[in-house]
Amino acid sequence: AGLAAPASAQAPFPDRPVSLVVPFAAGGPTDVVARMIAVPMGKSLGQAVVVENAVGAGGTIAATKVARAAPNGYTLFIHHMGMATAPALYKKLAFDPLKDFEYIGQVVDVPMTLLGRKDFPANNLQELKAYIKANPNKVSLANAGLGAVSHLCGLLFMTQLGAELNTIPYKGTGPAMNDLLGGQVDLLCDQTTQTVPMIKEGRIKAFGVTTLKRLSALPNVPTLDEQGMKGFEVKVWHGMYAPKGTPKPVLDKITAALQTAMQDPMVRQRLADLSSEPAPMDKINASGLKTHLEAEIAKWGPVIKKAGIYAD
Ligand code: MLT
Repeated sequence: AGLAAPASAQAPFPDRPVSLVVPFAAGGPTDVVARMIAVPMGKSLGQAVVVENAVGAGGTIAATKVARAAPNGYTLFIHHMGMATAPALYKKLAFDPLKDFEYIGQVVDVPMTLLGRKDFPANNLQELKAYIKANPNKVSLANAGLGAVSHLCGLLFMTQLGAELNTIPYKGTGPAMNDLLGGQVDLLCDQTTQTVPMIKEGRIKAFGVTTLKRLSALPNVPTLDEQGMKGFEVKVWHGMYAPKGTPKPVLDKITAALQTAMQDPMVRQRLADLSSEPAPMDKINASGLKTHLEAEIAKWGPVIKKAGIYAD
């Protein structure tokens, strides 16, 4: 009788569905991207990639959960630049973005839009500014919590405005968008992966885009920069991670599946329709993500510390 290896060592990865953890609510921008790539990734891997929403605390609950998950390839994580801002925003963080993860690759870059509820009494940025000035403390601004990009974009907007708005936190901009559509909240800054269809359908107002050039999907929406908010630029990068210690051959399979998904013509068309860009192919790998994450942590840390925003 030969020496049999333990069954676990023999089982080829993956032999069951893989979970892709999204740190915000279903229906929102991160969820949209995750579901878009889960299908082609699952095809490559030969097993379903199942999206799991683990919400709360600006994405840090999900990051903690993934950091503590078994490092076997069956738990993956998609998160945006909140991964880089969390160390400065949260005094007590139960995970270390630079120590507790393996890096699969960068995924997409997504612009943002400044939005208002459909019947908000302002039709452009100048009117919005005037309205806020005339109605201090009356205007509400939704976000997805400390560490969410909707939060950062809102802060940037309020700084440029020189005014404070009543900020209302949600568990993702999916539910925030529902309240904007329902008229329960006035304003929201959110990624085009969720907002383009609603803007096109006229269900919400778009006051501006956060890029220096107008977006091809929204040619009639001016940039915030061209309306006087000089240099207002936010692009949201996303990355995919696995728990630290996930074996290299498993990581290689996942990376290859992500690279294939990002070249899928349907994925690329959908992203283009949402004025979002797949990460450059040479960044869809471990070093492409890790180098960027390190640079972003170094960039945001001092900015956030100087602004004095953090959670205890
Ligand atoms: C989401 O997916 O809900 C958003 O990315 C949250 C955010 O604004 O960061």
